[in-house]
Amino acid sequence: MPKHLTLAAAVAAALLAPLSLLAQEAIHYAAATHVFRIDTPAVTYAMGVNAAGELQAIYWGAPLAPADPIPTPAEPRALSGMETPTTITPYEFRAWGGLNFTEPDLKITFPDGNRDLVLHYVSHKIEPAKLTITTKDISRDVFVDLIYTVDPATGVIGRSSVITNKTKSPLTIEQAASATWNLPHGTDYTLSYLSGRWAAEMQLTQQKIADGTTVLESRRGSTGQQNNPWFAISRLAPGSSTPNPDEESGEVWFGALAWSGSWRINVERNQVHDIRVTGGYNPFDFAYPLAPGQNLSTPVFYAGYSGHGMGEASRIFHRFQIANILPQRPTPKPRPVIYNSWEATEMAVDEPGQVALAQKAASIGVERFIMDDGWFGQRSSDHLGLGDWYVNKTKFPNGLKPLIDKVHALNMDFGLWVEPEMVNPNSDLYRAHPDWILNMTGRPRSEGRNQLMLNLARKDVRAYVFGFLDKLLSDNDIAFLKWDYNRQWSEPGWPELGPDSDKQKTVYVEYIRNLYSILAELRAKHPKVEIQSCSSGGGRVDLGILGFTDEVWPSDNTDPFDRLSIQNGFSYAYTPQVMTAWVTDSPNWRPVGVTSTAYRFLVSMQGGLGVGSNLNKWSDADFATAKDLIAAYKTVRQTVQQGSLYRLISPRLPTGEPSDYSATES
Ligand code: DGJ
Repeated sequence: MPKHLTLAAAVAAALLAPLSLLAQEAIHYAAATHVFRIDTPAVTYAMGVNAAGELQAIYWGAPLAPADPIPTPAEPRALSGMETPTTITPYEFRAWGGLNFTEPDLKITFPDGNRDLVLHYVSHKIEPAKLTITTKDISRDVFVDLIYTVDPATGVIGRSSVITNKTKSPLTIEQAASATWNLPHGTDYTLSYLSGRWAAEMQLTQQKIADGTTVLESRRGSTGQQNNPWFAISRLAPGSSTPNPDEESGEVWFGALAWSGSWRINVERNQVHDIRVTGGYNPFDFAYPLAPGQNLSTPVFYAGYSGHGMGEASRIFHRFQIANILPQRPTPKPRPVIYNSWEATEMAVDEPGQVALAQKAASIGVERFIMDDGWFGQRSSDHLGLGDWYVNKTKFPNGLKPLIDKVHALNMDFGLWVEPEMVNPNSDLYRAHPDWILNMTGRPRSEGRNQLMLNLARKDVRAYVFGFLDKLLSDNDIAFLKWDYNRQWSEPGWPELGPDSDKQKTVYVEYIRNLYSILAELRAKHPKVEIQSCSSGGGRVDLGILGFTDEVWPSDNTDPFDRLSIQNGFSYAYTPQVMTAWVTDSPNWRPVGVTSTAYRFLVSMQGGLGVGSNLNKWSDADFATAKDLIAAYKTVRQTVQQGSLYRLISPRLPTGEPSDYSATES
């Protein structure tokens, strides 16, 4: 084991006992001042009940000593009739009601037409590392539990809300956030976030936070490549207008939503220059009816604090994800060196061709052989076959077993590509069940990559998807699924519910819940199977899916130069443990010139190393380089994947801008 990890392990062992104590003692309530306080070695967080009975943020930042006083929540200020207290008070979780013009965490319509909701503190419960504060509307029996969890080792706090209808009538939730995070008053800030598109994901964007609202979001039904649900906010150096936070110094507040459906994070700078970050379900096209007694819980919005720049913010979040989020938490196995067939064969897979690639892959030290798209149904192009999950008899006359056995004999385990949530109109599944897709009756069914989306919120669709995957994993010795998802939502109707149903828009929540529950059930039944989240590259990378998948595919763009920026951006939010990177051929489909085999390997060695080249075209020198570098990688991979990451040199242009991505379609 590398020296620095041995040290880390020793430190972790030494800290273990105190940490469990810390978990119990991290949360306190001072009855005299009505202040809640979360203390960890990395952060102190405090909020309290103000004179009006509302929850108000007080402090979030560097750890304070237990004896350091935390003030009682300040009396809400009023600047004028136009700036009433409710418009400028830093609320923890504010419903839309009264004189509130900021982004609400919750908005409800009642059947009698009332849309006013004002939440007051009712009670609280403190458990080890968990605080639940119950709030309630001033007159109606709508209860909102605000849940806080804390990881004492990193100081990362998770916040979510549970909205319960205890009235005697149904109501409709039109907007539901997980939490609002308030930043310290009185300074200018830089916002860092990740944006991009297909083949150019995870571009780090940094800008001074101006008055108004910056909206990061996906309305596409899934996480999306255009914005990732992560943010970091750092203090701008006094007098500086350059939004260029330092790697190793300065305060940084950062967070990410654990949700793989439509989401929104609003970063607001209000009229007194206070910053608040509100995140949760995207309210666009959202409505969630609650019958009496029902509730809705929101995704967890995690956030942390670093007093030592963006570098430490990333390291804290990486440690947190490894120990608290990933399916193999707290000690996930390092990722194996993989081979993937996609760029070598695309859909022209067959047994002899895959065996030939597997033999060559084994010779350079690959540990897992993954057959990508093309092995099932009548799949010869992306126009047909999706949804028909039987083995194609022309390509694999004796099923998958002979290939899997040969892969095992070569001392590798076997992985397989699936895209369970999709269907081509030209498939047996669609012909049999045209009603299974997301659609609006009588309206066009828009295709993306020639495919339609199954409505996973339906019970029968959920059963079909779980059933074929369960059978696939039961019938074959499969160690890994590459779970792909290659389009985004359109016409997201749920006709099965009937035209009068008020539950149509719950599809945004129920779909993702079923996705998570399928993944959880598969993992429970097939505990040896590991899973990758892929969505035309990095379209589904978030802390929700990472609770069920061991790794992600950050981008279809495998050009090493482009990858440096994609991987750099990725590293701000997510641990290299989950970042898969392949060495592919050069030149490839990106028209950017030729790079050496060694350079491509060194770039891919920054995460979970894979090879996606057409090995049939490699020279002896390529094989020799690959063998040497894969052997070297295995000696450092635990450090690369799970160690403490220091970004020493930025791959961004000297101007601070990301490099130019003019990738063409593949
Ligand atoms: C998109 C993925 O990102 C690729 O790696 C590959 O698996 C293709 N889909 C297969 O259709």
